[in-house]
Amino acid sequence: MRKMIVAGNWKMNTTLPEGEKLVKELVDLLSDYKGEKGIIIAPPFTHLNAVNNLITNTSIHLAAQNCASEESGAYTGEVSAAMIAATGAKYVILGHSERREYFNESGETLLRKTQLTLQNQLNPIFCIGEQLTQRESEQHEATVKKQLEETVFKLPKSDFEKLILAYEPVWAIGTGKVASPEQAQEMHAFIRQLIVEKYDEKTAENMSILYGGSCKPNNATELFSQQDVDGGLIGGASLKAEDFRAIINS
Ligand code: 13P
Repeated sequence: MRKMIVAGNWKMNTTLPEGEKLVKELVDLLSDYKGEKGIIIAPPFTHLNAVNNLITNTSIHLAAQNCASEESGAYTGEVSAAMIAATGAKYVILGHSERREYFNESGETLLRKTQLTLQNQLNPIFCIGEQLTQRESEQHEATVKKQLEETVFKLPKSDFEKLILAYEPVWAIGTGKVASPEQAQEMHAFIRQLIVEKYDEKTAENMSILYGGSCKPNNATELFSQQDVDGGLIGGASLKAEDFRAIINS
């Protein structure tokens, strides 16, 4: 059975002391968590090791927000999948629209990052989603299909099964303009059907597909109650421990 997951993408926010404070608050608030949702937080690279120490023996798991597209060597400023794995992190967010847009990450690059992540026993949280103009011109389904075909649909089933997918419509990210539950459900069902066609029914049924984009305590319950929405990838609201807990408990 597929898992409900709530993952917090902190993006480029918090210094290490601020991040440690936030994690301690979260650990405190979630100390009696008995729910079945998987909980993941993705702080900046500089925090991974310290955060990993703070979440040992808790229900919180650790993700990085990116990784290099090369294994190792002369790539100044990059952080490899092996380095991330050595911090204790278990997940890596890949394909986020901010990385596609501001850092020109192509399908080819993202596939390479996904493969390196998997080779290092890390699970990718792979993001897809259309821009506003693509939705307005009815290209949202075609866009997401292309994003999958260029990247993770090139993986063998045994690798693809290790992914978590996140549908994040770009127009909903950081805008306060959340997708309606119907819009989210429609896209998640569409993505799941693509997985049926590419792999098989069982693979599609077991895949967690998270929704991301202005997901907040006041809209999470309705979004998460949609049949094909298996939790959320949370930006802004993951920076407030109370809000993140409220979303987890949605
Ligand atoms: P917001 O929740 O701030 O809209 O960000 C969503 C997101 O991009 C998560 O990866």
